Amino acid sequence: MTGVIETIAARYSCRTYDGRPLSDDERSAIEELLAGPYAAPFGSRMRFSLLDAPAAGVPGSGQARLGTYGIIRGAPCFLAGAVRDGPGAREDYGFALERIVLILTAMGLATCWLAGTYRRGAFADRLALADGEILPAVTPVGHPAVRPSLIDVVIRAGAGSSRRRSWAELFSFKEEEAGPWAPCLEAVRLGPSATNGQPWRIAKEPGRPVFHLGLAGPAPERSTRRLDAGIAMCHFTLVAAELGLAGAWATPDAARKARHPLLPPGAVHVASWFPA
Ligand SMILES: Cc1cc2nc3c(=O)[nH]c(=O)nc-3n(C[C@H](O)[C@H](O)[C@H](O)COP(=O)(O)O)c2cc1C
Repeated sequence: MTGVIETIAARYSCRTYDGRPLSDDERSAIEELLAGPYAAPFGSRMRFSLLDAPAAGVPGSGQARLGTYGIIRGAPCFLAGAVRDGPGAREDYGFALERIVLILTAMGLATCWLAGTYRRGAFADRLALADGEILPAVTPVGHPAVRPSLIDVVIRAGAGSSRRRSWAELFSFKEEEAGPWAPCLEAVRLGPSATNGQPWRIAKEPGRPVFHLGLAGPAPERSTRRLDAGIAMCHFTLVAAELGLAGAWATPDAARKARHPLLPPGAVHVASWFPA
């Protein structure tokens, strides 16, 4: 079984699939995974579904097409979910869906977070989105094609998807100061983020492994950056667990409103990690 650190390094946004359907084994593993429970630091209620993507123009399917404006090619299925709106809803959705994405990656399947380039209405219909629920993002699931499509290559180049900000840009302390926690931070750095914006900023308390996670720039509750924060929290948590480092995210309401003094000016404080 591949470790989570390797899986995080192996994951990438795949926009070109080979069209093959999922095998029965893959499908049942995914259905089992989606049955929950979902890990969610803010305690939001969530549900996820595996949706078949009937090929364009298949007559009689009676279902709205799960469109992505031509960005995703050949994906047999999509994963989409609903979360009850409220403080921390998007962070929780980011956390839960990234955990699923990493398990799919370890199974050899490809994915691509989509918060913008998909037809929301068709997905919301298929999920039967209820009042008070939101659908923050979806991902295709399938087997990667051998060659990426032109649009895939163009989007990757445009977003600079293969690049990540340096440790010093994201974290206000040296790697040596992180001690055994350094791989957790490196896993945050390697994470996916919308338009590869990498908005995570982390400060550490001097002398103890307490980490404060913030988001650079404006990050209102409805912002896609909140998903990026959840993804970062997921990577940190899973790597800490793999390394046997106990701890948890504290997510008090007050902390979310505060500007943490250790975080860079303008960064919005999302949550803090305390060792157990
Ligand atoms: C929350 C979130 C939303 C995203 N939305 C889109 C999207 O709408 N369309 C798209 O093509 N890629 C989308 N991406 C993929 C990012 O562009 C990609 O993660 C980033 O460029 C880094 O590339 P990588 O995932 O291959 O490491 C999204 C990623 C995240 C985390």
